[in-house]
Amino acid sequence: MGNKGFEVIIARDLEGLAQQSAGFVAQYVLKLAKVKKRVSIVLSGGITPRGLYDRLARSEFQKLIPWHQVHLFWGDERCVSSQHWESNYRLAYETLISRVPIPSQNVHPMSGEDPHPERAAGEYEKMLRQFFGLPQNKRGQRWPQFDLVILGVGLDGHTASLFPLSSALGEKKRWVVAPFVAKLRTHRLTLTPPVFNRAAQVIFLVSGKEKALVLKKGLEKGRLRSSFPYRLIRPSHGRLIFFLDAEAANQLGPL
Ligand code: 6PG
Repeated sequence: MGNKGFEVIIARDLEGLAQQSAGFVAQYVLKLAKVKKRVSIVLSGGITPRGLYDRLARSEFQKLIPWHQVHLFWGDERCVSSQHWESNYRLAYETLISRVPIPSQNVHPMSGEDPHPERAAGEYEKMLRQFFGLPQNKRGQRWPQFDLVILGVGLDGHTASLFPLSSALGEKKRWVVAPFVAKLRTHRLTLTPPVFNRAAQVIFLVSGKEKALVLKKGLEKGRLRSSFPYRLIRPSHGRLIFFLDAEAANQLGPL
């Protein structure tokens, strides 16, 4: 990992990014499934992960993964119905979930359709606490440990629905929040930085030349601790890998 705290894997192009990240995820899940009953994966929204989800659904990788042991969660969700074109659940359903033999009870979407985002956030946290066996604990704050978290990076450096200047960036207690995102003029549902930072493995998928600058500013050695939200994600005990395509990586200097 080196002292920078993350690894970078550069694929030739978007196709290569999908193939390489799918190979990594399949092998990682297969290895974990041999030593634990349930493997918890947090999915990302956006467009870049489409290729990964599509590959995982194809027989080459689908047959490697013991889907009955996999539990899918979301890192964030838009406040729309699950049928809406913006829904992160819909993206994952169409590209992955509808094409693999994962039991429906293993799929844990956020309630984007709830007209009360705060309530939806609280309900998701309650579900997570039950899943991880961590009741509402007033004493020390304990956190869930997801096995794998998949994230993307927005042009402004956001990740999940952790946007610049958001109150969610400094959240230290709650696992799930529903910040109002002024630039989008809407609420979003999102897991919080401490939750992401307890994960055993976090991977970012970033593609395209338009992302080259936000990566350069956020990752390059010697750069100020960037104010970009995606750089808040530094797993305290887990591994962090950036899967990039050549276009997204083409402005990166020494890391
Ligand atoms: C979302 C995602 C968001 C996404 C970035 C990058 O709900 O949109 O959680 O954080 O990962 O916006 O999106 P692309 O990978 O499509 O550029």
